Amino acid sequence: MHIVRVTDVAIREGLYEVAAQQKYVREAAEFLVFCIDYAKHKQAVPEAQVDWTETLIIGAVDAGIMAQNCLLAAESMGLGGVYIGSLRNNTARVTELLQLPAYTVPLFGLCIGHPAQQPLYRPRMPLAMTVSENHYRPLNAEALAAYETILADYYQRRSGLDLNWQQAVANNFARPVRPHILPFLQEQGLARR
Ligand SMILES: Cc1cc2nc3c(=O)[nH]c(=O)nc-3n(C[C@H](O)[C@H](O)[C@H](O)COP(=O)(O)O)c2cc1C
Repeated sequence: MHIVRVTDVAIREGLYEVAAQQKYVREAAEFLVFCIDYAKHKQAVPEAQVDWTETLIIGAVDAGIMAQNCLLAAESMGLGGVYIGSLRNNTARVTELLQLPAYTVPLFGLCIGHPAQQPLYRPRMPLAMTVSENHYRPLNAEALAAYETILADYYQRRSGLDLNWQQAVANNFARPVRPHILPFLQEQGLARR
């Protein structure tokens, strides 16, 4: 795991372009990029087998846990933050901007700053949809219907959108999802087997 704290204005600008010009990437007081990092391992132990898919999963989980701890710490101090997954729109460009070596992957950014607004709280999926006892529980139509009502209301009030969870899923998975990612990972020397 590696974090790049981006303080250079030109680099921030480059990341802002990658992240579909989301203005807080340019304006947030702090911008951190969380990366999978096996470059250190390869430097210390050149024969280390870091190209297994399992290794990639471990690296991504580590970075995700670390990021959430950072955000919780920031929130405990009255700060706010937003993750920026759209850095993966162009991982090659992010790698270039941050001079990331082989065996690393820029996973997502995290903007941190003093909140300028208090947006509506996004309704969480009910526990009936996310937790079960002993065995997996498939999606329950009643729980989904109840959640859809709550979420549709949220989307309407938050963004004026006529949308619910099912439609959001349909939209998000209607086309190839960042298909450049697999070749990028493999070029970085990861997920080759
Ligand atoms: C991995 C990840 C990536 C995200 N990427 C973006 C992003 O690129 N731009 C953005 O505005 N929000 C991004 N978000 C934030 C979500 O759009 C959403 O606003 C947030 O998860 C809702 O916050 P809440 O669950 O704390 O209410 C991301 C969230 C996660 C977990």
